Amino acid sequence: MWKGRFQQASSDRLKTYSESVSFDWRLYRHDIRGSIAHARALKKAGILTAGEFSKIEAGLRRIEKEIRTGRFTFDAGLEDVHMNIEAGLTKRIGAAGAKLHTARSRNDQVALDLRLYLREEIEALSGLVRGLQKALTGLAARHEKDVMPGYTHLQRAQPVFISHHLLAYVEMLERDHGRLRDGLKRSDECPLGSGALAGSTIVLDREAVAKELGFSRVTQNSMDAVGDRDFACELLAALAIIGMHLSRLSEDVILWASAEFGFIELSDRHTTGSSLMPQKKNPDIAELTRGKTGRLYGNLFTLLTVLKGLPLTYNRDMQEDKEAIFDSVDTAKAALEIFAEMIRGARFRTGAAARAAGDPALLATDLADRLVLGGVPFRQAHEIVGKLVALSARKDVPLDQLDPADYLAASPVLQAGIIKAVFNVATGLSARGATGAPSPKNLAKRLTHWKKRLP
Ligand code: ARG
Repeated sequence: MWKGRFQQASSDRLKTYSESVSFDWRLYRHDIRGSIAHARALKKAGILTAGEFSKIEAGLRRIEKEIRTGRFTFDAGLEDVHMNIEAGLTKRIGAAGAKLHTARSRNDQVALDLRLYLREEIEALSGLVRGLQKALTGLAARHEKDVMPGYTHLQRAQPVFISHHLLAYVEMLERDHGRLRDGLKRSDECPLGSGALAGSTIVLDREAVAKELGFSRVTQNSMDAVGDRDFACELLAALAIIGMHLSRLSEDVILWASAEFGFIELSDRHTTGSSLMPQKKNPDIAELTRGKTGRLYGNLFTLLTVLKGLPLTYNRDMQEDKEAIFDSVDTAKAALEIFAEMIRGARFRTGAAARAAGDPALLATDLADRLVLGGVPFRQAHEIVGKLVALSARKDVPLDQLDPADYLAASPVLQAGIIKAVFNVATGLSARGATGAPSPKNLAKRLTHWKKRLP
């Protein structure tokens, strides 16, 4: 493509080292779409005749079909998907093909292709986030009123409903969804027309190109446009956070599936056995997802590091963006998909979860609250209940089964009726009526909200 200036052919090692078509061929549909829009602008500017434009369009569509059906041969010697398609076009339609690259550079071309690719993938990813939210909401609905312990420091803390725990993830995924959509808004700018870095003396109708390609505006600085990969950084950051969320859910699932917890039963279809130990049933999907989060973080760091310190504008370093982007998109999609399936196939062992939540000590805070309602300052109430907890440990009796005299000695507020009323999980949960707290009323409302939002 640049044979004019060079007397020697490229070294074979250089070709292998610098080719990207082995992975960026995936951009072919977007590349072709962009080229057709660009060709239309060239026709409008009088660079291409109507006949040449038609030939180019038909040739590009033919190549698209050939690639889709595996009949197109990519040549690593032509470096990337852009040059492969352009060379393929000229080979197929002759002279008109050689006019296509007028007023365009691979620099604005690749910036465009990536944006088109990401836009499509963000749509797919947002749908998959919604799918997982829906699966979690479905499971939550099945366990709307089943209790389990809520944890802090992985120590049993207070009883909650299983639905409350699961819906926490639905909220997290809602923010993920928002981040994906938000990034989309900022990447909604067409860079085509920026040329290599300084536009072109041949002025094309950029707005028309943008419109044809479904962008709502064009980029405003050609140097920024070819050097910018912020949109990819934002997406990889959003995917890294999704990975972080999935890995936390993975950890919960792994713990719940252990014999020690015994809260959840994953389906046979979503667990694996051991090649040696016949009894094993392992939560590999969750473990793999927890592990794959490493890639999602790594890819974000790859891209940020590739871009760090690059002088304006385009530098070849930027070709290193693609594998990181593709890998994060593929990894996040696969994880979201299989997680939704695994959650749909899971069932809680409600008895075990309720038993674990049944330790009256989990209501110690509620007891302190009762003292507060009886006029005791909270710090004092905390100490009084703390001493009762210590006493129950010393006597080895549950916190709700100390002698009535023990409670009264701790505080005259703690009449037998109060003790009986406090140590009741259902009452304790019903009392938690503030927005966001797990009262049955709140949960019913939130479930309705999600069911409406995730049809
Ligand atoms: N394959 C290149 C990339 O992905 C396309 C742009 C190449 N531009 C250039 N001037 N060499 O970044």
